[in-house]
Amino acid sequence: MTRIRILALAACAALSLPVLTIGAQNQGPPPPLKNLKFFPKDISRRALLDTMGTFTRALGVNCAFCHMADESLPPESRDFASDQKPNKDKARTMLHMVAAINADYLTKLSSRVQPPVVVTCATCHRGLSEPRQLEQVILTRYDSVGTDSAVALYRDLRQRYYGHASYDFGEAPLVEIGGALRQRNRVADALRFYMLNLEFAPNSSSAWSQAGGAQLASGDTATAIKSFEKALSLNPNDRQATRALQALKPKK
Ligand code: HEC
Ligand code: HEC
Repeated sequence: MTRIRILALAACAALSLPVLTIGAQNQGPPPPLKNLKFFPKDISRRALLDTMGTFTRALGVNCAFCHMADESLPPESRDFASDQKPNKDKARTMLHMVAAINADYLTKLSSRVQPPVVVTCATCHRGLSEPRQLEQVILTRYDSVGTDSAVALYRDLRQRYYGHASYDFGEAPLVEIGGALRQRNRVADALRFYMLNLEFAPNSSSAWSQAGGAQLASGDTATAIKSFEKALSLNPNDRQATRALQALKPKK
């Protein structure tokens, strides 16, 4: 078990970046660590705090997300040993899960890529405490509030997180959302997301084809033809556009 814990710790520490400046040096020795249930009891304070730093960056939170260490508390009543906040114990469960993934599951593969991939908190969390995919976040908002709000949320998140690993602002999530809405026969709403995709990827032939498909399904054949033609002008081999135009041409 200790070996597994050290493995997990090494995995976290491997990613740790700048050293934390907690417990300023001129305040005398910090109190001993007193409530460790996962990490070895003799772990150095430095190593533990480095790991804590990786948690904050991986989840995009501060210490108070898991600890009784809120800015509003006077320094003497901040208590890192307390288990009062549920997120601290959830994090312990996560530590056991990550150790099991690395030590019990990935080691069973018949061969490993080299160097082997080590799963860390950031592998799933990507700077988010709730590691959801963008399409799930947007479809949840769509279901609870509606299209305008879901489109606005997409724009907000893009503004806030573009350039971070948290969400994928490439074409794939918008295509997933459009596809999910078309499956539910919400063609007009699907088209909103395909148009949003075109706003950010105006030179993507597949984005034009997908918009064309939704325009066709909503009965706007003239616009659909223009979209498919645009797709073909960008990529003469676009199969969806080629097939759609072949099917449409005789009817014109
Ligand atoms: C995602 C949750 C999470 C975040 C964020 C987090 N910690 Fe922790 N922390 C834990 C867990 C879980 C433990 C207990 C580990 C164990 O049981 O071995 C712990 C233990 C500690 C301890 C040991 C307390 C004791 O005496 O037992 C200190 C000190 C500590 N954290 C400091 C910090 C600091 C400083 C930060 C912010 C830079 C921070 N932590 C951020 C989850 C977190
Ligand atoms: C394999 C993917 C994965 C990895 C790796 C992972 N987590 Fe999680 N984590 C999740 C998921 C999924 C949830 C949401 C669980 C739920 O549905 O409530 C979660 C939730 C949490 C929560 C609770 C957040 C909340 O708002 O309720 C904490 C705290 C947390 N993780 C900490 C960690 C820490 C610390 C690590 C690294 C030691 C870690 N996680 C590694 C997938 C992962």
